[in-house]
Amino acid sequence: MIVILLGAPGSGKGTQSKVLSSKFGFTHLATGDIFRAEIAQKTTLGQKAAEYVKSGKLVPDAIVTEMVAGKLEAGKNYLLDGFPRNLEQAQALDSMLRPQKASIDRVILLDLPESEAIKRLTSRRICSKCGEVYNTVTRPPKNDMKCDVCGGDVIQREDDGEATAKKRLMVFDDLTSPLVAYYKAEGVFERVDASQTPEKVSADLSKLLSGSGSLAR
Ligand code: AP5
Ligand code: MG
Repeated sequence: MIVILLGAPGSGKGTQSKVLSSKFGFTHLATGDIFRAEIAQKTTLGQKAAEYVKSGKLVPDAIVTEMVAGKLEAGKNYLLDGFPRNLEQAQALDSMLRPQKASIDRVILLDLPESEAIKRLTSRRICSKCGEVYNTVTRPPKNDMKCDVCGGDVIQREDDGEATAKKRLMVFDDLTSPLVAYYKAEGVFERVDASQTPEKVSADLSKLLSGSGSLAR
């Protein structure tokens, strides 16, 4: 099963992917997380991606699609978070899945107003060691700015300052939101109200993935 979580920066893709992966046994493939890890390790891929990620621009399609193609294994269940991000990447994904005789089962938009996304992004903090996600308003770490999970330093993502966060939201509007029409035409599109509590969003997503939700075409 292949499921894509679409959504603006800050809409909760990472938060919900964690819940859904453990509940349904998906392999969580988050291109942003992969880039941040590669940048931290100063790999060749990380060096190629760093300037784009830092400034809130999309990493060039050829780099992203090559990376994803190298990770998608036939027969596994994937939850894709942050990929595809434009029509070119959506078409590249279709081409990757065709020889595997796999197809996209659901594309779910985490729908969140821009004003709320900005608040969530600028108040988000992450663990510099394990990547655990916090929020100074809704989910602060218990112990000063140390990670509850591993004790690492909790920091702000480099692209979560207000100006870069706004830029990322613009990129989403321009390049990623056209994917809604693309996947509606494929008959696999669903929408969830991402402004609800994390628990309610998880419940709505779980309902869709358990097959009891409606498939709006
Ligand atoms: P990426 O890491 O994918 O960032 P993004 O899409 O901008 O999404 P975010 O991770 O910012 O938000 P999220 O939806 O995961 O929200 P989260 O759960 O953390 O990409 C980063 C960069 O990498 C890109 O800009 C680009 O440069 C590059 N890149 C990645 N993929 C690419 C691709 N395919 N092509 C080209 N370039 C690519 O939640 C946010 C905050 O809100 C947290 O603090 C959380 O605690 C809180 N929160 C979550 N849910 C709720 C809720 N229901 N109520 C209240 N608070 C909540
Ligand atoms: Mg994320």
